[in-house]
Order: sequence, then structure tokens, then C-alpha cells
Amino acid sequence: MIRFFENYDLQPHNTFGVDVKAKYFFEFTESEDLDVFLQSNQTWEKEKILLLGEGSNILFRSDFDGLIIHPNIPGSQIVNEDRQNVWLEVGSGENWDEFVRYCVDCEFGGVENLAFIPGTVGAAPVQNIGAYGQEVHNVIEKVKGYDLNKRQLVEYSNEECQFSYRNSIFKSRLKNQFVILSVVFRLDKFPEFELGYKKLEEKVNEHGEVNLQNIKQAVIDIRSEKLPDVNVIGSAGSFFKNPIVDIEAAKKIEGVFKEMPAFPASEGKVKLAAGWLIDKAGWKGYREGDLGVHEKQALVIVNYGNATGTDIYNLSEKIKQSVFEKFGVELEREVNCV
Ligand code: EPU
Repeated sequence: MIRFFENYDLQPHNTFGVDVKAKYFFEFTESEDLDVFLQSNQTWEKEKILLLGEGSNILFRSDFDGLIIHPNIPGSQIVNEDRQNVWLEVGSGENWDEFVRYCVDCEFGGVENLAFIPGTVGAAPVQNIGAYGQEVHNVIEKVKGYDLNKRQLVEYSNEECQFSYRNSIFKSRLKNQFVILSVVFRLDKFPEFELGYKKLEEKVNEHGEVNLQNIKQAVIDIRSEKLPDVNVIGSAGSFFKNPIVDIEAAKKIEGVFKEMPAFPASEGKVKLAAGWLIDKAGWKGYREGDLGVHEKQALVIVNYGNATGTDIYNLSEKIKQSVFEKFGVELEREVNCV
């Protein structure tokens, strides 16, 4: 199925709930549709292009003057299986959380800690979603899609995806060029559980036995306690990445704030908690009209109603500046701002 619109309302297509429009909007449900659409009208080559899933990691600062491509490919099937693993190919339009629940119900391990993350399956590899010690790159076998420059179908192996913390080739070199159509996951029939995150372990224990169902439920409990429900309050989850800094820079801050959370990163580097830095800079629970910083997680900027994309962006600039002034740490946005 193909749907095509002009001057299209994007408010239902971004979880910040920002009221903006797209010049053109194209949605399709079959892999072949995209090529047919693009071949049928060469004028698309001149348009700016933006690829959009469920819009849960994007901030529109203004109307989008170009073509939005929204892949909405459904379905999932087992493509391979052995004693230990099962390989599932899933359409990029499937909802991520429903996919996680399906895996947990089938007792396939590897994504249970990633329950309740908003967005589509196709968007998951783009920013290499992660939570509570799991990152999606650990279970991705390959990513299949359509290259808009080459005008052909291409597959990327896990290694070729160049995954790193909240990043991949699809967010860097191939940004808005590679339309993900499906993802092949390698899941585990006898998983090792990831309970390194202390709060998660405690919550799982409250539910009883350590198993996939209880881990999934514990993650849902923790996330719904701390993060706003995007169906009620506009947000895009963590607005900034956790900054990775030199050990010396971290030590300098620790000299003043002994309680600062810090995690080992690559050689000579430390990962700091952006939420903690923003919180300590005094922003947690900040509110100015319809705009604010979430009261339980300072890493999340919220739209309580009619904040504009520009308002949200400007607040993020102020936060960046104040964290830099207080700690000398440069925050990088995790949300895609257009
Ligand atoms: N903290 C504060 N104040 C705050 C927020 C956090 O002091 O307002 C402290 C916490 O007490 C903790 C540390 O900062 O010691 C880290 O906080 P938390 O464990 O809540 O996780 P996070 O680093 O803020 C990251 C991800 C989340 C993911 C959680 C759990 C990023 C950018 N964010 O948040 O992902 O759910 O870990 O693994 O890596 C997302 O990407 O949208 C997202 C929600």
C-alpha cells in the first residue's frame, strides 16, 4: 500500500507533539513500493529527504520543506534456527515494544532489557538503542534496505553497520540515504541475563524468579516510574547523549562532587551521566509555559502542550551552555534536530 500527501500534518508523527507540516509525505508497506514510487517521478531527486519511523527521536524546529519517507513494512518471520539461536527477520514498520513482547513470549532472549522503548524496529539500529546494559547491536545479524543514491537494495552485516554508543552508519555516512526495510535479529534460546544495572536486579527480585518475563516487567516498571509516557506528555526520551570525557576531566569534577556517577569507557576515557550533570546544574523539574525538563529524569525535555520546536531547541541550547559553564563538559544532542 502506498499513501502520498502534500502539506501533511506531522503532529501525530513526532512524539514531541510539535505542530509542523511536511511539503510531501510518502508512506509504503511493501519493499518494492519505494523503487516504483521513485522511478515514476524523477523530480524527487531535487527534494530534501527525511526518513521517519514513529518520530520518537526527532525534533522538528520548523516545517519540513521536502519529502518525508515513512516505511511502514509489517511482519516477522523465522528465517533460520539452530539449537542455540533463532534468526527473525522483522519489517521495519513493526513497533519495537511489540517486537520485544513477542520475543519474550516466545522465550527468545536478547532484547528484554529494551522493553518499552518507543519507536519502530527499523529505527532501532539507526541510533543503536540501548538500556539497562543491553544494546541492540548485540542481537543484529544484518540490516536490509534501499539505498536512495544507488537506487538498489543493499544489505549491511553487523560489522558494516559500524555500531557504537547511540550511533551507526545509518545515522552518520548514510543519514537519510538508506531506507531500512527489515532487520534480521539473532536471538538466544538459552540467554544469559543482563542484570548488571543494580536497580533492575532489585526490581526483578521483587517479581520473583529471574526470567525473561520478569526482566521485561521490571524494565517496564522502572521506565514508567522515571520516564514520561509519550502518549501523555511530549518528549523524545533522552535528549542528550551521556558524554565521554578524559579521565582527568572526570577527576576534576569528582574533586568537587564526590558523588558524581561515572562509568569506565574506552582506554583513558570515562562516561558521565548527562542526566546527573543537568540535574546538578539546576534544571530538573524546570518549567516555562508548556516547556520543561522532566521532574524525574533531567535528561528528558518535555512539551506539556503547545511548545514549538524552536522553543525546545532553544531550551536545549541553554542547558548545554549551563552544563558547560558549570562542569566544562560539552553535551551532544541525541535527538535528531531538523
Ligand atoms: N541522574 C541524576 N539525575 C537525573 C537523572 C539521572 O542524578 O535527573 C543520575 C542517576 O541517579 C544515575 C545516573 O545519573 O546515577 C544515570 O541515570 P540513569 O540510570 O537514569 O540513566 P541515564 O544515563 O540517564 C541512559 C540512557 C537511557 C536508558 C537508561 C537506562 C542515554 C542517553 N540514555 O540514561 O536511554 O533508558 O540509561 O539504561 O544513554 C534514551 O536513549 O532515550 C533513553 C531513555
